[in-house]
Amino acid sequence: MRALPRLALAALTAAATVAVVSATADAAADPSPITVLTSDFEDGTVQGWAGRSAETLAHSTAVAHGGTGSLLVSGRTATWQGPSLDVLGTFEKGTAYTISVWVRMASDSDSARLSVERRTGGVAAYDQVVGNTAVTSGAWVNLTGRYTLATDVEFLRVYVETASTTGSLHIDDLTVGYVPALPVQTDIPSVKDVVTEFPVGAAITGAEIVTEHGRLLTKHFDSVTPGNALKWDATEPSENTFTYAQADPLMAFAKANGLAVRGHTLVWHNQTPSWVFTGADGQPMTATAEDKALLLGRLENHIRNVAAHYGTDIGVWDVANEVIDESRPDGLRRSNWYNVAGLDYLRTAFRVAREVAPHAKLYINDYNTNVPAKRDFLFTLVQQLKAEGVPIDGVGHQVHININWPTLAETESMLTKFIPLDIDQQVTEMDVSIYTGDGESFPTPPADRLLKQAYVYRDMFALFRRYSNEITSVTLWGLADDNTWLDTFPVTRKDAPLLFDTRLQAKPAYWGVADPTRIETSPSASVSPSVSVSPSTGTNPGAGSCAVTYRVTGSWPGGFQADVKLANTGSAALTSWKASWQFTGGQQISQLWGGTVTQSGATVTVGNAAWNSGLPAGGSTSFGFLGSWTGGNPVPAAFTLNGTACTVL
Ligand code: XIL
Repeated sequence: MRALPRLALAALTAAATVAVVSATADAAADPSPITVLTSDFEDGTVQGWAGRSAETLAHSTAVAHGGTGSLLVSGRTATWQGPSLDVLGTFEKGTAYTISVWVRMASDSDSARLSVERRTGGVAAYDQVVGNTAVTSGAWVNLTGRYTLATDVEFLRVYVETASTTGSLHIDDLTVGYVPALPVQTDIPSVKDVVTEFPVGAAITGAEIVTEHGRLLTKHFDSVTPGNALKWDATEPSENTFTYAQADPLMAFAKANGLAVRGHTLVWHNQTPSWVFTGADGQPMTATAEDKALLLGRLENHIRNVAAHYGTDIGVWDVANEVIDESRPDGLRRSNWYNVAGLDYLRTAFRVAREVAPHAKLYINDYNTNVPAKRDFLFTLVQQLKAEGVPIDGVGHQVHININWPTLAETESMLTKFIPLDIDQQVTEMDVSIYTGDGESFPTPPADRLLKQAYVYRDMFALFRRYSNEITSVTLWGLADDNTWLDTFPVTRKDAPLLFDTRLQAKPAYWGVADPTRIETSPSASVSPSVSVSPSTGTNPGAGSCAVTYRVTGSWPGGFQADVKLANTGSAALTSWKASWQFTGGQQISQLWGGTVTQSGATVTVGNAAWNSGLPAGGSTSFGFLGSWTGGNPVPAAFTLNGTACTVL
């Protein structure tokens, strides 16, 4: 391990911050990350790495990702054993670090993952940074993910483990870096001041209450939902042992800043420890009277404790989460709750919640409520329970949607359906994925998707505001794109579903909510073709009618990410485009998005994708890629667009 000396690091940080602040309002222009740690294993040592248990770590020259050395971990007797590195003195709370490491098995095939173990007060927690990724002995595989420490810790280590075998493995070329946070924009309208029909909230997981994140949260939002901290596994990990260590800091922040809190969630089939469904005999519960009584007793005890702990600080509870399964003939999810207790688990949960928190609005919350079959089953269930006198005050629509789905009409039907029940409705977990299928993956969100997303936010918020008689709040499932659950669900890839980008700057989506007339004209929309006219038009008229900006946005030993902006500075629109350049440093493109690539030796040719073929006069488009390099990574000196030499900006 080579940590940069503290002073050098501080100097670098300061320099970079100044550079960023003076780099104008182009939020898309991420500077290169600042590297805080590297392990290249080129000096014959293990560079400070240790095992997580009794496994053996040794320097190795059997294989290497870059150079001649790597780290070999052998003698593993459990899958969780693997190489780990102390980052306690390196990671600052609230800073999002990008961690990249290369992994290769010695002889087996398996899946590897990258995580961080942290301990507070002796209690360990394990945060996954990169999920299971296939690895073999035949090639190096890169694991790259982001991590933000949100709590005070006395122990913090990055580690690699495998999913199923205990075979020996190599790692090499770890780099850890971060892009300095930009200050929150203070000269833009606050979402909560624009949307006055109902409170607007964001889900937070802990990291969002520190520094700039905290400022962004309080500037724009009226309320928060703890995204995980109030779930059963966080509040009652073992029977009758209640811990509020995760939620209390969020609650204190909310109170200090006048934010309302949505409590999420008291009964769910996920994130509920297995002891809850284990009978007195140590076996999984079944639908016996004895198991049912034990389960409902545990449920009652849980709600009494958790809801009472927060009292009137929580004004809304998602009492029950995701109980509908429209693939069942009766529409009821066959969860452990249902299988053991039938609908009585819902009756008990709402009754006890009302008793303990009589001030609170009690919700039944679900996703895909815009899907007619699911919506109708939920309606029927709520209607039935209400008729029985079960105290349900509202229906929560999660609204996890994407840029193409669902339609506005379907969403409107989702709302109108429940009006006859005379209950409140809330949008509880809204986000708008940039993906429309599991097979897609963009390391950087393409401009056209961000624009489309802005129009979805615009239209959805306009609809919600029209239904302000029914809707009593709208909550987004996250604050900014640097922390979204969609980065790992339903598959691992970078998503960008929220109003603010990974550097906390307003996206076109923000303007979709705050002021749709500015979706395409705000600085944050500089990615959109209509406004990203090259500022240097005419500075070099001899170079033809195009201008190219080539930026390396990330670099690590042997690999890099870059993006290229093509501006049509001529007077004629192009109906298709082809850009070309030479890589003089032996660089090789491995993956490209926003276009189609062919590379022959040093010559790279990138043509348009189907969706971005048109390039109007004065317009621009961007594509990005991942590549490898060996000797160096020089920036190409010249570019052509449709055969014409371009100005290089
Ligand atoms: C998600 C959290 O955001 C993740 O951090 C966690 O790993 C899984 O759960 N519907 C819900 C939320 O009701 O509780 C889920 O939250 C997202 C889907």
